[in-house]
Amino acid sequence: MAQKIRASIIGASGYTGGDLMRILLMHEGVELKCLTSERFAGVPVTKLNPNLRGFTQATFVSVTEIKPQENDVVFLCVPHEKAQDYVADYMKNYPHLKIIDLSADFRIHDQKTYEHYYCAHRHPQLLKEAVYGLPEIHREQIRSARLVACPGCLPTSTILPLYPIVKAGLIDLSHIVIDSKIGSAAAGASFDISTHHPERQGVVRAYKPSGHRHIAEMEQELSEAAGTQVKVSFSPHGVEMVRGIFTTVHAFLNRPVKDVDMWKLYRGAYGNSPFVRIIKDKETLYRYPEPKMVAGTNFADIGWEIDEHANRIVLMGAIDNLIKGSGGQATQCMNLMFGLDEKTGLWQPGLHPY
Ligand SMILES: NC(=O)c1ccc[n+]([C@@H]2O[C@H](COP(=O)([O-])OP(=O)(O)OC[C@H]3O[C@@H](n4cnc5c(N)ncnc54)[C@H](OP(=O)(O)O)[C@@H]3O)[C@@H](O)[C@H]2O)c1
Repeated sequence: MAQKIRASIIGASGYTGGDLMRILLMHEGVELKCLTSERFAGVPVTKLNPNLRGFTQATFVSVTEIKPQENDVVFLCVPHEKAQDYVADYMKNYPHLKIIDLSADFRIHDQKTYEHYYCAHRHPQLLKEAVYGLPEIHREQIRSARLVACPGCLPTSTILPLYPIVKAGLIDLSHIVIDSKIGSAAAGASFDISTHHPERQGVVRAYKPSGHRHIAEMEQELSEAAGTQVKVSFSPHGVEMVRGIFTTVHAFLNRPVKDVDMWKLYRGAYGNSPFVRIIKDKETLYRYPEPKMVAGTNFADIGWEIDEHANRIVLMGAIDNLIKGSGGQATQCMNLMFGLDEKTGLWQPGLHPY
């Protein structure tokens, strides 16, 4: 590989930033420049990420140490609202620089919708410039994008199984019910009483069973697929996992479909998408997608079951929220933006047993 891509991570002390750092350290085409943290500036990154012992001697630096002119890409792994000004500054003052934002700040094209679910947007003119970073749906736009807004982890596990069937007009668009189970790392590295071990261990806890923020991007992408406004009913639950998401979608069929139709549909949609695996096995224990089978990988496993009795189709999606749901997906986008094979630095199976 010729010249390496010079990359910095803002918010490298968090969970998404830490895992992105792990992926990029092993990426043959990347030179890591600055890994930022205000709280841990001057501290070796292995103090917070002991899994990286022997792989890096870098220390965290303040964000003021980043020299944008000496970078080709900057990743933002910061809370929503906090990415807005960095992105605006880089977009205006450093035209050569590509930006990959893992927060929600540029995912939603419509300012009113963003502000309904999140907060005021200080740079709404940039919302239309950002490309939603789901390579399986927007691969060509990502290749030529300057600003990519990586999807949320729950929407990734939801949009991938739903998009083809919505696009094909096979389901009732007014009754799409989505139930997700998610691990504790989704809450990030900062903690409060809800993530305190005695309170979190062993839970099955509803989190925002209505009005969850991620509805905004699910509806945006699915409406685009349908060519009309789609509404979803979404309820996530915290469960006993650190990493991982398992999503079940209940949708109702407009006309009878057979397994053979679904195979054709998904193979057509994702035949050229190396990280989407269709899981439907009649014989083994592993009949459907499972978070354990994608843990530590960039795969999104999707599957379905037709319920003729209730005229229902059950769709399933499993991802590792810290990889396909954040740092892996961001790396996949970077590969596309810099003309690399999208699998570079990401092509590996998970562990079994795990
Ligand atoms: N966790 C997930 O599964 C997941 C998945 C997809 C997307 N996301 C999104 O990714 C972003 C990061 O999530 P996370 O889970 O990694 O959070 P986290 O563990 O709480 O980390 C947040 C990071 O942001 C930094 N930070 C906070 N305010 C900052 C500011 N004003 N300027 C620069 N850095 C700042 C913190 O650095 P300091 O050390 O300086 O405080 C820390 O490194 C969020 O927007 C989240 O919604 C998370």
